[in-house]
Amino acid sequence: MEQSASLLDQGPPSAAQAVACANIALVKYWGKRSRTHNLPAQGSLSITLQALQTKTTLSFVPGERDRLVVDGEERSQSALEKARLVLDAVRDRASLQAGAQIDSQNNFPYGSGLASSASGLAALAGAAAAAAGLSPSLEELSRLARLGSGSACRSLHGGFVEWLPGQRSDGEDSYAIPLYPADYWDLRVLVLLVDAPPKKIPSTQGMLRTAETSPYHRSWLQGVQDDLEEARQALGKRDLERLGTVAEASCLKMHADALAAAPGLLYWRGPTIEIIHTVRQLRQQQGLPLYFTIDAGPHVKILTLPETVESLLPLLGAIPGVSQIIESAIGGPIQINPPLAQKEGAVPESGKPQ
Ligand code: PMV
Repeated sequence: MEQSASLLDQGPPSAAQAVACANIALVKYWGKRSRTHNLPAQGSLSITLQALQTKTTLSFVPGERDRLVVDGEERSQSALEKARLVLDAVRDRASLQAGAQIDSQNNFPYGSGLASSASGLAALAGAAAAAAGLSPSLEELSRLARLGSGSACRSLHGGFVEWLPGQRSDGEDSYAIPLYPADYWDLRVLVLLVDAPPKKIPSTQGMLRTAETSPYHRSWLQGVQDDLEEARQALGKRDLERLGTVAEASCLKMHADALAAAPGLLYWRGPTIEIIHTVRQLRQQQGLPLYFTIDAGPHVKILTLPETVESLLPLLGAIPGVSQIIESAIGGPIQINPPLAQKEGAVPESGKPQ
């Protein structure tokens, strides 16, 4: 079968390779209804980022232990533990007893607070399923990726994606669905990396602390349905002002919830706040279409239109503490080699990050 995925290398026959893009949530996921099966308390909505990709090669080797190398360095702690949650589920389904040899490469700084766990665990789920000879649908792959990292379940799809929280305790109804493909709307995301020490509270720990101690957590959860509906409508009309407005509101509410935890979770650094002020100023004073969002770290992602990027780059790059700006278009779905056996809903052959 002819391979459609140009980014993929030919590996040994027992190995499989997958490339997945990172994603950022415009309506945030912040809170779990269950740690078993990693289930969210609410839905979320994201866009896939073409410029941030993880390429993972994986083979199962009987008698070997699991080994994870990320960007040339062996990882034994939390990254391997997350990977095992996905690997064990794949081994279970395939009745496999073999260690996984995993080599994962990111084209962006790993562990910098960018969404490397989303692209990484999505690519891992795809590569592991293919190497184990499984033929899951994208829906099943999304559930597998979710086990390692919630946001990873959204990285199976390209374009504009919604994660359905589901209600079942086994998590079978909690997976991501594509709302619109990448070419539905030509938006740009500018990822502003800010100078900051690497230490942060991982999102799982942050969410658990927030749910246990923040007096605002109930209101945060209650507001998500309305934000999701507003974001869906804005997307349907390709209305950037509405989409950006609800994205900023969701981000600020999530951080307000986290700030009110005990002890309070403050993910921002000085430059993060300067960027927020600059975004608002440029919008109000110059009428430029740009909107910010921030995850569990200090970096800021800005949503804008392709024609605005050129004028924004020098203005945003001049903010003290901004060390790098990565420009991204909207990305496509996961690519897997060898492709998974076709079945309804399985990875389309033409699917590739654009
Ligand atoms: O997927 P996790 O467990 O790393 O959590 C992601 C949490 C946020 O990035 C803050 C929000 C989101 O929806 O991606």
